[in-house]
Amino acid sequence: MYPKSFNDSNGDGIGDLKGITEKLDYLQSLGIELIWICPVYCSPFIDQGYDVSDYYHIDPVFGCNEDMYELIHESKKRGIYIVMDLVVNHCSDQHIWFQNAMKDPYGKYGKYFYIREEVNGNAPCNWRSYFGENAWSKLPGHDNLYYLHLFAKQQPDINWENPEVREELYKMIQWWFDKGISGFRIDAAAFIKKTMPFEILPADREDGFCTYEIPPTCNDGLHEYLQEMKKRTFEANDAFTVGEVVSFEEEDLEKYISDDGCMSSIFDFSLYMIGKQGEDFDGFYSHKQPTANEFRDALLRSSRLSFNVGFLSNFIENHDLPRAASHFIPEKDISEISKKMLAGLNLMQYGLPFLYQGQEIGMENLSFSSADEIVDIGSHMEYTLALEKGLCEEEALKKIQEYSRDNTRSPMQWDKTENAGFTKAAPWMRINPNYMKINVAEQEAREDSLLNFYKKLILLRKNPEYKETLVYGKETSFLEKEDNFVGFFRKDKNKKILVMANFQRKGKFFQLPEGEKKVLINNYSEPVNLETNVIQMRGYQLLILDIK
Ligand code: NOJ
Ligand code: CA
Repeated sequence: MYPKSFNDSNGDGIGDLKGITEKLDYLQSLGIELIWICPVYCSPFIDQGYDVSDYYHIDPVFGCNEDMYELIHESKKRGIYIVMDLVVNHCSDQHIWFQNAMKDPYGKYGKYFYIREEVNGNAPCNWRSYFGENAWSKLPGHDNLYYLHLFAKQQPDINWENPEVREELYKMIQWWFDKGISGFRIDAAAFIKKTMPFEILPADREDGFCTYEIPPTCNDGLHEYLQEMKKRTFEANDAFTVGEVVSFEEEDLEKYISDDGCMSSIFDFSLYMIGKQGEDFDGFYSHKQPTANEFRDALLRSSRLSFNVGFLSNFIENHDLPRAASHFIPEKDISEISKKMLAGLNLMQYGLPFLYQGQEIGMENLSFSSADEIVDIGSHMEYTLALEKGLCEEEALKKIQEYSRDNTRSPMQWDKTENAGFTKAAPWMRINPNYMKINVAEQEAREDSLLNFYKKLILLRKNPEYKETLVYGKETSFLEKEDNFVGFFRKDKNKKILVMANFQRKGKFFQLPEGEKKVLINNYSEPVNLETNVIQMRGYQLLILDIK
């Protein structure tokens, strides 16, 4: 959940914690069991809360600590767990630790960050931040000193090498457990350990910088920290933890998610890694639209990799990515049918399914008419970068439009009243004008809506007859050589479920496996004929079959 954009309870145009509590019945009706809330701690919001200035307090835009305790309490009553965002790779430059570090860089708080002297008049090394700029900035007031920030310059990286700062963080984590939260989503989890000493790396673009990747050689140090954090905090609280780990070496997966791993789960980014590597990849948000075959290969690979190891967390949307329908489906084919197909793949895949607010009603990307409309800091930097690379304003805007994080951050579309029922005031961020058509109220009232389809899929996952198989059953491919088709079985000793998605506009015939079949889910209203073993699937049709 992206709290600023979920529901505004007090009419200031910004979503807040009371707003979430007001919608708990809605969330319960959807069938979800856990809410991960993006950061709600005090923050100057340079990176929308991922720049924490006080870990112990809720930012006033969201309400107060009591509102959080109430949300935890009310959620528990409805069988819903609350998972907070743990942003400990970096904090805000407004955090008291950094303020003190600036005053006395060689004192106690200077050691809370990576502060280094300049080398021959330059930064200590040539790492590029994830927002595209130099990852080192001059420490204000100290011309010869630099500090490291892998994200914006207002987000100084915290020095995990310092045991004292680790203790401070563990204390804070326990403090929140004592308030009743059930776990954490761990932001930038694999970045907390840096390769030391800082070294100049071969430049990977003309700007002379190199994007810092987590090299395999430092993994041991990383996992020591993550294990320590688990032992000191998560374990005793029986917490659920899910890490943001964008890439990892295959053999390291067990270090993350096996029973002895440092977290309960990590997000599976493989669908979003498609098109993000290789020669023409030139930025954080630069990637191509995945093909159906690439989509299938990524799904199957993830389930093969994780089966018998642990659960990856599956998602097709989050607050850093475009809307799934806009990203995975060619524009002319975006419809409730194709959105339902994506929903089925998201929820039937081996792993823990996460939905992002608005995905359940099929919200789509925003359109931008000028660069002034960009809100996200990352998108601003990408836009500047695109202009520097020689794109004209129009092209740069188009690029931003496709991949901007603003796409998923526009307010939730509740109904067709003014401001989509999100707020009674001017919303903090533009609302997608398509809210008159795409909104919760309309879909709640319509039996065959996407929202009701999501509910059906979730109920199927929870159905006592199928849940064992859908949670633990092995995933094996079906017709893997077919183009534009995603097919897999979920099987255990009691059941065999077949998921089939004709990931293209045109209809096609497919040979079904032997056995008596029952349709569990179909995204078209017309019934399918299972009399023969050859079936004609329509464009973007999704079928989930129980096979005896
Ligand atoms: C990942 C978060 O999801 C993203 O929104 C943020 O900008 C970076 N980490 C930095 O915290
Ligand atoms: Ca508000």
